[in-house]
Order: sequence, then C-alpha cells, then structure tokens
Amino acid sequence: MRKPLHDIFPAPPADLDPQLLDPAAVPVHLGVIMDGNGRWARKRALNRLNGHRAGIEAVRELIRCANDVGVRYVTIYSFSSENWARPVDEVGGLMNLFATTMLAEVEGLHEEGVRVRTIGRLDALPARTREAFERAELRTRDNDGMTLVVAVNYGGRDELVHAASQLVDQALRAERAGREAPVVDAAALERCLHTAGIPDPDLILRTSGEMRLSNFLLWQAAYAEFSCTDVLWPDFTRYDLLRALLDYQGRERRYGAV
Ligand code: IPE
Ligand code: IPE
Ligand code: MG
Repeated sequence: MRKPLHDIFPAPPADLDPQLLDPAAVPVHLGVIMDGNGRWARKRALNRLNGHRAGIEAVRELIRCANDVGVRYVTIYSFSSENWARPVDEVGGLMNLFATTMLAEVEGLHEEGVRVRTIGRLDALPARTREAFERAELRTRDNDGMTLVVAVNYGGRDELVHAASQLVDQALRAERAGREAPVVDAAALERCLHTAGIPDPDLILRTSGEMRLSNFLLWQAAYAEFSCTDVLWPDFTRYDLLRALLDYQGRERRYGAV
C-alpha cells in the first residue's frame, strides 16, 4: 500500500495541489540533470564545493519522494565525461564527496529496497570512489524497489562510441569463427549501452534554468519529455518534483504517430 499523497507532500505551497497527481501515471523512468550547485554557492560567496555538498540533501529528498510516488528508475547525472575540464580541486572534491556519500547512504538505501546501478566509465575514477559505487551496487543488487542509476563519468557520445566498437568486435569475432555476422539493429545497439535493461527515460528534468542535454542519455532521450525549472539544484524540493510530475501528466506523447 502506497503512502497517501498528503503524507508524501504534507505542506504544499498554496498554488500546488498534490491530489492532482495521478499515481498510476507517474514516469517509469525519471532522469535528472542536477545543475546549479556552483551558482548556488556563488550567490552565498561560498566555494563551489559547498554548493555540491548542499546538493546532497536535495538528492536524498528526490530519491525518497520519487520512491514514494512510485517512480521505478531515477537516473541522476552526477558527473559528465566533460566535467574533468573543471579545476582539479573541484574534481577531487567531487570524487571525495561521491565516495563519502555513497558509503554513508548505502545502508539507508538498502533498507528502503533501492537498487543502485551506475552508468559511465567507472574505471577512470579514483579507486576509493570506484569501490564505493561498486560496493553499493553489490550490496543492493537483489533489491526489487526503485532503481537508482548514478551517471558518473558518463557521456552519451562516449557510450555510443563504446557501443559501436563492441558491435564491430562482435562482427570481427563472428567472421574469424566463420559464423554469420550478427544483425546490427536498434536492439543490438541497446544491448551494448550502459543502460542495457533499463527502460528509456519518460521525463528528463533539469534545474538552474538551462535547457540542454549536456551529453545526457542521448540515445535513450529520443522520446523523453522535458521539464526545466529555474530552481538551483541545492534548493530543489519535493514540491519542485511534484510540479514537474504534474507538468508531465499534462503532456500528450505521440511517438511520431497521430
Ligand atoms: C551541477 O552543478 C553539478 C555537477 C556538474 C557536478 P554545477 O557545478 O554545474 O553548477 P553551475 O552550473 O556551475 O551553477
Ligand atoms: C551537466 O551539467 C552535467 C551534470 C549535471 C553532471 P554541466 O553544468 O556540466 O553542463 P553544461 O556545461 O552547463 O552544459
Ligand atoms: Mg552546471
């Protein structure tokens, strides 16, 4: 039995009615481009890392609330393949924050039945960070609640190049063994993506007023709905999520048909 909506959203602002949410029509997969940590910190004359730290509480709230309303997959864009271009102390600080947070949160996530998965190139991460993610994946792999997909050192182009090279490898191996070349179609390519087995996102949410994908789930976003808000990520609350979900429920999805 799900929690009633007024328990999930106990203190809504006057212009927002949680009862309007149809729990049967929430997105199966929600992608979140968590943006604006740096600007949040700058507004307070703080170091950018303070913004990233403040963003962790918003992630906790997102996971709890998405789980409560029945979303099955949440993908959080945590570090892109282009984010290495940031100053070394910011990158190092983020890597430490990922490791510390993952280690601190894994038992709580496990108790809530959440399954943790990662997408991206983990092999390029510092050992402590990579191991924290791997431990979380291992610890929670048998859970059947919501799946939390952490996109870390993830880039959509990188993922597609990697998939293409795997398809070439498969064809070469077949040729060498005298077997018929495997069929190359959308399903074969999808099996080579980091997201194999995860349904495409229904809704992609971006904070901080930006309206771009920034290399997030390029293939998978083909028919995703978008929702953008000016709220900076550390300020994001369950009521901002509710607004995005209501916005989504007002959309008509056509997939190219009429
Ligand atoms: C998003 O916030 C977090 C990461 C990319 C890790 P930003 O750090 O991009 O914040 P802004 O865009 O500079 O405000
Ligand atoms: C996208 O945000 C990456 C993450 C949220 C991890 P960025 O802040 O890196 O994107 P751009 O540079 O503004 O496009
Ligand atoms: Mg940004």
